[in-house]
Amino acid sequence: MKIADNVCYVGVNDRRTSLFEGLWTLPYGVSYNSYLVTGEQTSLIDTVEEGFTSLFLKNIADALEGRKLNYLVVNHMEPDHSSSIEAVRRAYPEVTVVGNAKTVQMLQGFYGITDRTLQVADGQTLSLGSTELAFHLTPMVHWPETMMTLMPAEKILFSGDAFGCFGALQGNPTDVDIDADLYFDQMYRYYAAIVGKYGVPVQNAMKKLADKSVATICPTHGPVWQRHAGEMLEIYSRLSRYEGERGTVIVYGTMYGNNAHAADYIARGLASRGEKNIRVYDLSTTDLATILADIFRYDTLVVGCPTYNGEIFPPADNLMRALAARMVTGKRFGAFGSFCWAGAAVKKLREAAESMKFDIVEPSAEFKQGFDQNPTEQFDLLVEALSVREK
Ligand code: FEO
Repeated sequence: MKIADNVCYVGVNDRRTSLFEGLWTLPYGVSYNSYLVTGEQTSLIDTVEEGFTSLFLKNIADALEGRKLNYLVVNHMEPDHSSSIEAVRRAYPEVTVVGNAKTVQMLQGFYGITDRTLQVADGQTLSLGSTELAFHLTPMVHWPETMMTLMPAEKILFSGDAFGCFGALQGNPTDVDIDADLYFDQMYRYYAAIVGKYGVPVQNAMKKLADKSVATICPTHGPVWQRHAGEMLEIYSRLSRYEGERGTVIVYGTMYGNNAHAADYIARGLASRGEKNIRVYDLSTTDLATILADIFRYDTLVVGCPTYNGEIFPPADNLMRALAARMVTGKRFGAFGSFCWAGAAVKKLREAAESMKFDIVEPSAEFKQGFDQNPTEQFDLLVEALSVREK
């Protein structure tokens, strides 16, 4: 499948893995993208997860049409992209594996590879004859060795995990010829789950590439962005600064439904004040990546749960830890919750939010035992405050 005259898509779709990294659900599967660049010489960009090596090797052979494979550029060493390197080396014994100093160390560390490698530095180029590859180190997007490879003349960027998304490809790899709507939600999920911790490195990578002209973005997962390339750059700029669109994510933990009632009460209150973007999730039943994606996407987060063993109810505690691990900051934050005989959850939710420099929306709302048996004044004040933004 051609991306450009001298670039073919040779990746694979995975619709059988249920948990990416053993953690993240894949309702629409995932693709492992690899590309073949052809000048007078040829270069593969990244490989695929090893369960798909046979199909991958066939894709490469078909795209090569009898030519030699000269290089294999390794933008990222995470095994979903590197675990077919050895198979490629066996199939093409003359291939040279290209990476930076950290890649070279990981090639040995993961696969014992020490020979037929070419170490490149930041900004270095590699001529393939009629075209050229330029290597730009982008550490921590998403591992220390990550780099992006640019074809300057063609304005094609092989971006590694950046701009990637969950969801197997539906036929054509480029967003020009497909309904890309499905992938936007999956792009936010992928960013929040995988890349979200690395906002500053993403910013640094974007600064490094700011003076480069990019018309096509080829990530390691999901569609090739052409029509939406500019939009992707804007979204990544916003997400990596932890800035959200106007919208409120209300998440709750509940054992017997009282905090679910409270969450719906807040949601209805916001809706009656004209708020449009409202997302309500039960923390015990909703996939974490979906919740994190919306928290990254929107500017306001409201968390509620019961006190459990004198602590935050564990699913809500897990969420707050997941946010802290991703260094999420700057969100408008509302807290609510319940207790049976001694309250702790609301106080501890607030403390967790303060430690992330969230902007606490007052008042927090707490109730004892049954939600319907309590006055709603605190909740009404919280809804009112949540619905007002200074800017
Ligand atoms: Fe898709 Fe960081 O690997």
